[in-house]
Amino acid sequence: MPASTKPIPFSPPDITEAEIQAVAETLRSGWITTGPRTKELEQRLQAFTGADGFACLNSATAALECALRVLGIGPGDEVITSAYTYTASASPIHHVGAKIVLVDTAPGSYEMDYMALGDAITERTKAVIPIDLGGRMCDYNQLRSVLLLNRTKWHPGTRLQRCFDRIPIVADCAHALGATWHGMNCGSIADFTAFSFHAVKNFTTAEGGGLAWKLPRNATVDPIAWNAPVQPGVTSEEIYRQIMLLSLHGQSKDALAKTKAGAWEYDIEFLGWKYNMTDIMASIGLVQLDRYPALLSRRRELIERYERNLADLPVTALEHFGKWGESSGHLMLVRLNNKGERFRNRVIELMAESGIATNVHYKPLPMMTAYQELGFDAKNFPNACKQFRNEITLPLHTLLSDDDVDRVTAELARAMERAESEGIVETDGSVAEARLAAYIKRMDETGGWSGSAAPRAFAVGDEEQPVSPEEIASEMGNR
Ligand SMILES: Cc1ncc(COP(=O)(O)O)c(C=O)c1O
Repeated sequence: MPASTKPIPFSPPDITEAEIQAVAETLRSGWITTGPRTKELEQRLQAFTGADGFACLNSATAALECALRVLGIGPGDEVITSAYTYTASASPIHHVGAKIVLVDTAPGSYEMDYMALGDAITERTKAVIPIDLGGRMCDYNQLRSVLLLNRTKWHPGTRLQRCFDRIPIVADCAHALGATWHGMNCGSIADFTAFSFHAVKNFTTAEGGGLAWKLPRNATVDPIAWNAPVQPGVTSEEIYRQIMLLSLHGQSKDALAKTKAGAWEYDIEFLGWKYNMTDIMASIGLVQLDRYPALLSRRRELIERYERNLADLPVTALEHFGKWGESSGHLMLVRLNNKGERFRNRVIELMAESGIATNVHYKPLPMMTAYQELGFDAKNFPNACKQFRNEITLPLHTLLSDDDVDRVTAELARAMERAESEGIVETDGSVAEARLAAYIKRMDETGGWSGSAAPRAFAVGDEEQPVSPEEIASEMGNR
C-alpha cells in the first residue's frame, strides 16, 4: 500500500517486546493478581509524581470514586466539575450519591470558568474536580484562590474533611501523567489526583489507573505556598489502607497477605467495591514507566512539528508548552477558527476518507441524554458548547512518524479547503452573535419587530433555525 494512503489510527498502544516479556514473566511467576509488581509500581509512581502516597487501581474512574469515598462524600453533598469533559469526571459523583454540579468553561478555554466556579460553590460543596484536559494542567492557583475565598462555605463533615481548611481538590488527571506546572509534577499539586492507564493513554496498563494524594496542608500559615506545613490528623498510611479497603470489598487482608502461612482469616470491615489492579497490568506499567521519559519527549517532538505545520492554517491548537510548564502531550486539540459543527464534522469525514482517524474531545456533558435527564441544559453552558463545535483532535501517539504528522496536517488543510468549497459556511457562535446583533439593530432602526418584514429564519449557533422576532427579543433581553 503506498505510504500516502496508509491508515493513521487515532491512538494505538505503544507496546514493545519488553512489555510482552514482562507480562509473560508475570504469567509464569505464579502470582497474577494484585501483588509485588503492583506494589512496586505504586512506589515508583509515587516517586515519579512527587505525591505523598499512591495507590494503583483498575481505572481513573475508580480512582475518582475512591477519592470521593475516602473523603466521605455522599448523599446531601455537592461536587463541582466542568461541563467540558468525559462522563467519568462526573459519574463517580453520582455513584457516591452526591449531586453533580457542572460549571461552564471560560470563553475560548477548555478549563472551567473560575468565576462561575465561585458562584457554584454552596454550603454543601464537598469537592471540586478540575480536568487537566489533553495533558495540560489547569490553573491551580486560580482554582485554589477561589476555594480559599470561599472558605466560609466549607463545612467539613468527616474526620478527613476536617483536616482540610478549604474545599478539597480531586483532580481528574486521566490525561496528564508526567505533566508539570510551575515546577511541580502532576500528582503533587491537587489533594487527590486520578490518573488513567487506559489503552489509549500515554502510559498504559491496558486498563488501569492510579490515585495520588497530598496530605492536607495548612493554608492559613502561608496561603501562597503549595507546600505549606502538613496538617496533623491523618497519615498517608491511613489513606492508603482506606483505599485498599474501598477497592477490595472492605476486606482487611488482600489476596497476597492471605497466602502467608496460617493467615487465612480476614474481616469485612464494610461493603466495599472491587477496583484493584492486577500484577499482569502492573508488569506492563513497570516497563512503560522505564520508557516514559523517552515517550514524553517523542510526544513533545511530534507536537512541535504539528505546531510548525499548523502555523499557516486558520486553526488554534492547545498550548502544550509554556511558561507555566509542560503538558504530558496527550491530545492534539485543535479548533477550526470561526467554524461550526457541520464544517468540523465534514472535515472529520474527509480525513477519515483519506485514512486518518480523528476525534472530538469533548461533546459537553449537558448535551448528553443522561445529563439532560439529571436536569442539565446545554443552553446554560454556552462557552463549552461553542468550544466543542469546532474542535477536532488529531492523532497523537508515539507510533507516529514525522511524515505521518506532515500527512495529517496536509490532509487537514485539504479537508478544510474542500469543506469550504462545498459551501459549508456555518460558523461558530461569535459570528452568529454578531449577525444577531446586526439583525436586532436593523429591526430596531426599521421598527420591523412586529411587521411582516421580519425574517423568519436566523442563524443562531450552527444551524439555520427558524426564530421568531419575539424569541430574538427575549434572547437579547437576557443578555
Ligand atoms: C478526562 C477523563 N477522565 C476520566 C477518564 C476515565 O479513565 P478510565 O477509563 O481509566 O476510567 C477518561 C478516559 O478516557 C478521561 O478522558
